Amino acid sequence: MTKRILITSALPYINGIKHLGNLVGSMLPADVYARFERARGNDVLYICATDEHGTPAELAARAAGQSVEEYCAEQHEIQKTAGEAFGLSYDHFGRSSDPSNHKLTQYFAHVLEENGLIEERADEQVYSVTDERFLPDRYVEGTCPHCGFEKARGDQCDNCGNLLDPVDLIEPYSAISGSRDIEVRETRHLYLLQSKLQEKIASWVDGQQRWPSLTKSIAKKWLNEGLRDRSITRDLKWGVPVAYNGTPRPGFENKVFYVWFDAPIEYIAATEEWAKKSGEDWQSWWRTDKGADEVTYVQFMGKDNVAFHTVSFPCTLLGTEEPWKTVDTLKSLNWLTWYGGKFSTSQGRGIFMDQALELLPADTWRWYLMANAPESDDTSFTLESFAGSVNKDLADVLGNFVNRITRFCNSKFGLEVPAGGTAGAAEHALYAEIDRRLPAYTEYLAQMEFRKAFAELRAMWVSGNEYLQVAAPWTAYKTDPEQAAVGVRTGLNLIRLFGVLSQPVIPFMSARIMAIFGETEPYPAWPEGKAVDILSTVKPGTAFELPEVLVTKVEDTQIEEWKDRFKAP
Ligand code: 2FM
Ligand code: ZN
Repeated sequence: MTKRILITSALPYINGIKHLGNLVGSMLPADVYARFERARGNDVLYICATDEHGTPAELAARAAGQSVEEYCAEQHEIQKTAGEAFGLSYDHFGRSSDPSNHKLTQYFAHVLEENGLIEERADEQVYSVTDERFLPDRYVEGTCPHCGFEKARGDQCDNCGNLLDPVDLIEPYSAISGSRDIEVRETRHLYLLQSKLQEKIASWVDGQQRWPSLTKSIAKKWLNEGLRDRSITRDLKWGVPVAYNGTPRPGFENKVFYVWFDAPIEYIAATEEWAKKSGEDWQSWWRTDKGADEVTYVQFMGKDNVAFHTVSFPCTLLGTEEPWKTVDTLKSLNWLTWYGGKFSTSQGRGIFMDQALELLPADTWRWYLMANAPESDDTSFTLESFAGSVNKDLADVLGNFVNRITRFCNSKFGLEVPAGGTAGAAEHALYAEIDRRLPAYTEYLAQMEFRKAFAELRAMWVSGNEYLQVAAPWTAYKTDPEQAAVGVRTGLNLIRLFGVLSQPVIPFMSARIMAIFGETEPYPAWPEGKAVDILSTVKPGTAFELPEVLVTKVEDTQIEEWKDRFKAP
């Protein structure tokens, strides 16, 4: 039966194009999974957007010398274009600054307030006398009280990862002017009373059957510490105004909702935008009273986002007492490191999405990143291992296989799948291998265990090469052309099978492989059944075209050049 699967990947901040670590941390695995589930015939909706509010956006706009509106509009287009170039198959890539999100965020806050879950409180905030303003979150920097790092930001220390409150910083200074003329002043904010939702969230978390154990343990840790009431407004101009039904909340005229309050709501608002564009019904994806009870909702994110998605956003949704769809399963990823250190947007360290595509095609990055996804642990990215994987897996194993068989067939039998001969021992050994590996590959993808999945895919590519060594149609042709025909026909069928199976991870190469047989999207269904049948799909007499070389190898001199350019350690 067709399943309806809602997929969201954590919204990338608007403050600049994303690096490879961001890409593999949420958007790319979400895309691979979306492609796989679509290929299995399921009804998939994959939603993402730029996360445009809060201090990261304001600071980046200021640094770029642009208004924040202008900066966000421009950066959104840049991220959208880079995503498309990487083959990210979003059904909609929205903007958290869209009117739909403003409206929906205000709606949620209003309902929560009516349910007695929002309270106005006096708060102590860092104020810059020089800048004549409050300095929320990243507007203030200073020394981390936990690890002594001197450039910790008001909301989080980049060195030790601890979440911070700006007033905790030692020797704080303004990130705008650098001024140390800082005071703590009183201001008023809205607090979401998460403490009142402790029981509700705890039993909701307990009821989750499909969360990985790591995810559940992060949520439980927060619950065990006791949910704390959370300030959901900020003294900023850029963001969702604190207004209900178009009327500003008295005393909050110059404040906006906190970026982490409105950002996850954009998952829903972006779905509304998608629905407007496509004439679909967004509620059937998000309201359990309107059909979303049949939806499986899967979220992708980096490990630092898990608490926000397992506790904070659920507080927003469940606190309304309305039938909103909540997450069914989460895939959280560890960090990709740049030679063991940090990729960094602010310091421009590592390789960014646009730069990556100046070096090699999207699929080479997609393959390397997913086959080495930081799943159970952090993974170190190095240009040497990237080049090794491109040369070995993609060029030697997959590319060479496609090239060899198609060219040999052309030279002996022409551009047509040859007839004749019957399967023998070599073919039966191959069938047994595929019958073992294909279901494992499918299951790993379904479980979102990407490293294991792509080890199986690679193993199938390898078994194709091994089969050719044994079947050796080039030798057989001299004495027994019919026998050679079996080898070539099986090889051509393997090529097509690899085209179908590789589509989630290397969609561009897959399209080129499918084009060999004149097939375009939508591709044939995800293969099920026995290898003996799957590998007889392309019938004798079927015409095909010679492909261009699929993958060009990376030269040592290129690696050296790239290491220089990106200041690899
Ligand atoms: O950590 C981040 O990059 C955030 N921009 C993720 C937001 S996810 C969602 F909730 F919107
Ligand atoms: Zn620290």
